[in-house]
This record gives sequence, structure tokens and C-alpha cells, in this order.
Amino acid sequence: MVAVYDIQVTKVERSKLQDIPLENIPFGKYFTDHMLEADYENGEWKNVEIKPYQPLLLDPSVAALHYGQIIFEGIKAYRDVNNHLALFRPMENFKRFNMSAERMEMPTVPEEIFIEGMRQLVELDQNWVPAREDHALYIRPFMFASDELIGVRPSDKYKFLIILSPAGPYYATPMRIYVEETYTRAAPGGIGYVKAAANYGASMHPTAEARKKGYDQVLWTDAFEHKWVQEIGTMNVFFVIGNTAYTPGLENNSILAGVTRDSAITILQDLGLEVKEEPINIETVMEAHKRGELREVFGTGTAATISLIRELKYKDYVMEFDVSTWSVATRLKERLNGIRSGKVEDKWGWMSKVV
Ligand code: COI
Repeated sequence: MVAVYDIQVTKVERSKLQDIPLENIPFGKYFTDHMLEADYENGEWKNVEIKPYQPLLLDPSVAALHYGQIIFEGIKAYRDVNNHLALFRPMENFKRFNMSAERMEMPTVPEEIFIEGMRQLVELDQNWVPAREDHALYIRPFMFASDELIGVRPSDKYKFLIILSPAGPYYATPMRIYVEETYTRAAPGGIGYVKAAANYGASMHPTAEARKKGYDQVLWTDAFEHKWVQEIGTMNVFFVIGNTAYTPGLENNSILAGVTRDSAITILQDLGLEVKEEPINIETVMEAHKRGELREVFGTGTAATISLIRELKYKDYVMEFDVSTWSVATRLKERLNGIRSGKVEDKWGWMSKVV
């Protein structure tokens, strides 16, 4: 790749790493020493900088704060058994980020800034990548509208940033999920397939209501009948019925095309399961449970990795599972962890070397 952007690097004088316990790290609480920042103005990207992690100084009129033109991604860097660092399928997140940008009428970000900038940033903060199983360096690229104007129109100026956070498991224990029938996450023509901050903002209230009832997250259903399953909180969802794994298809643009979802489909097929991406009716799931054929339910996501679901509640019907007897989600998780830690052959070329 011909370098067009000169990435300026300013390093910290002293790393904060020694002040932070890398054991049992809560997700998203600590940030590394450096961040990447770039500006979009007059139709071009400029001021691409890696610099000490610091607050942003923003005018209160900044457009993103008023109209939510904000998108983000989640990617992880892993340390393998040979002490090499690699990013997990970063090109997939890069493509999805720019697809989100187009839907939100924002500029796309060049590969050299997104991928090469990320690689340089992770290399600089490499000591922050945890070595423990189920731990990684979570990478958060994001972009927001930075015009200082509260007129409702696409911004002319944008900021792109990448910050890094050492992370343990997002959901540490098997989850209880509430099937949502009142609120809606996404409808055809909307932004369900986009990693827009707005999708997460809108999920807070329904999730808080589910929490009050004792559930960890909601399973979203379609906007019209509240029967067709979409995704769970921060994850895509899989149901194992007999020897087939089912996950909702992406055809309505209402579901996030998860990179972990795609990886899970590939691995499950490799493990000998049939995988069907198709519309899934929650009544069908309930019927399968009544017949004793619903074997496993799990979620997939970058932050969540593979998260087991021990309870699913639909109307008054409660589906409970003994996750200790499961084999599909556990084999899937083992294979994915094996690829990431370098213990299992990376036969699909998913790991992208940093150092
Ligand atoms: C991710 O899995 O990367 C997510 O974006 C989920 C969440 C932490 C917002």
C-alpha cells in the first residue's frame, strides 16, 4: 500500500500500565496510553495522529451530540502462545464500518487510517494486550459528526478515533434472556444492520425493564408481529435444534452482520453441523423446546465472544437449560479460542499479525 497519510506519533512519557490491575479486568473500564485521532474537513482526511490518551475538547454545539451521527466498531487483538499479537478479522470490521458510514451519510475512512493506524496503535500499546484466556485488547474505532452547528443536516466535519481497552469476558456467566414483544430494535429500511450508537441508546430502556424482571438482556423480535427473532442485546443469536444450528438471516437489513456470527457459522459447519440462516419464529423455538429438541441457545459477538444462555422467557413460557451438558457452543468456543491463542491451526487466515 502506498502511504498517503503521514501518521504523526507522540508517545507518553510514562505508561499507566503499572497502575492498572490486569487481573479480572471489567469490560471497558481502563484505556491504554495512546489513541488515534483524525479529522475530516473539506472532503479529505487530515491530522492523522497517534498521541497520549486524553479528553476531547468539544464545542457544546457539536452536531453528533444533538443528532447522533455516530458510528463505531469493536475488534479484538489477541496475544498468542508464542507471544505474537494479532487482530481478529479486522478487514471485516473495516468494511462494516464504511457501510455504516454510508447509511449514516458520513465519509468513509481509508484503509490506511483504519487498519494501518490501528495496527500501529496496537503495536505501540502492545504491553496492554492481556495473555489470559478469554482476555484480549478491545479496540474501539468510532466516528462522529463534528460540525459546530445545530441545523439538521449531514455534518461537513467529522472526527475518527481509535481507543484501546484491555478486556475480560463481557458476560462472565450464562445469561437469562427475555423475549421482547413491546419495544422494537429495528425495522426494514431502518438502521438495524448499522453499528450506530443510536441503536444502543434506544436499547437502554427496554433492557433496563428486562433487568428489573431479573433478565440480563432482551431478545429482539420483528417490528410487526414480534415473533421473528432478530438479535440479543450486544450479540447475534444461535439455536441448536437437533443437529442443525439456526440463526436469523441478514436479508431484512435488521440485524448486525456480526464478524463472530460469520466465524461461528464457518466453525459450526466445520464441526459437522448443518447451519441454516433463515427467518426464525419464536413460536417454533418454543415448540422445539416442548418436544425436547432445543439443545442449546447462545449468543455471538466481539465483546461477548460465545455467551451461553441458560434461560429464555417468551410470554409465560420459560425455557431453562443445563449448560453444563452442552457440546456445540463449548466446542465452538474452544475452537475459536484455539485459533486466537495460536493453539489451533488458523486455517481460514483470520488472524492478522501485529508483531
Ligand atoms: C461488540 O461486541 O464489539 C459490541 O459492539 C458490543 C458492545 C460492547 C456495544
